[in-house]
Amino acid sequence: MATPKPKIPLFFIFLLTQATSPVFCSSSSPASSKCSTHTFPQNRAFPSCVDLPYLDSYLHWDYEPSTGILRIAYRHAAITSPASTWVAWAINPSAPAMIGSQALVAYHRDGQLTAYTSPVYDYSTSLIEAKLSVDVRDVTAEYSTDDREIAIFAYIRLKENTTTLNHVWQDGPMDGGKPIQHSTSGGNLKSAGTLNLLSGQSAGGGGGGGGDDRIKKRNVGTRNAAGLCFFGYGFLLVFSFLVGTS
Ligand SMILES: *[C@@H]1O[C@H](CO)[C@@H](O)[C@H](O)[C@H]1NC(C)=O
Repeated sequence: MATPKPKIPLFFIFLLTQATSPVFCSSSSPASSKCSTHTFPQNRAFPSCVDLPYLDSYLHWDYEPSTGILRIAYRHAAITSPASTWVAWAINPSAPAMIGSQALVAYHRDGQLTAYTSPVYDYSTSLIEAKLSVDVRDVTAEYSTDDREIAIFAYIRLKENTTTLNHVWQDGPMDGGKPIQHSTSGGNLKSAGTLNLLSGQSAGGGGGGGGDDRIKKRNVGTRNAAGLCFFGYGFLLVFSFLVGTS
């Protein structure tokens, strides 16, 4: 009954697990703050989140592929002039770009935070309120003085079994109480990407049964970072399997 010893040197496995650990996955995120440690007031929880790479922004979401219902919270922190800044997060059904995006917008109007929807047809948009081409409900926004943060919340109905979406996020100044063009340099020109709604859920979204269960939050990167995470966890799974069966 002498079982053969594992053929894979443990040191090698150690190296692999280090290289593919979640720490590695979040290495492209801003070091200052992480979405995974954020808690929303009133016990609202989102099983998945990502630290967006530009504009001090974070996206949190809860997604049910079988229904296509996506619940999101977009947070833009560290806003220099909160009373005169608009922020927006948008889905773009055609490309990770500004034109064609279906935006959720928030800013302070007469001292009162307001949130609404605005489809973006051209570069000269002043983000006028109008209906979107995607089904969006319950758009609300909240301001937090502590970290000068505006958060936009909404429900979005996607086509069933949608797994990825193009998204764009943005901030810009106000003039005469109206949003005007955002900066055309730095992060403001790079704040778009493709998001995999499912890879962000893999660690904690499954259960959902117990009301008091703490849903483990995970942050995943967009684009390459998400791919790396996926790649990394894949390796972990495969090697756990190898070790377990050798
Ligand atoms: C979505 O996926 C589920 C499970 O694979 C499948 O049963 C269902 O038919 C799919 N729905 C659509 C609209 O493709």
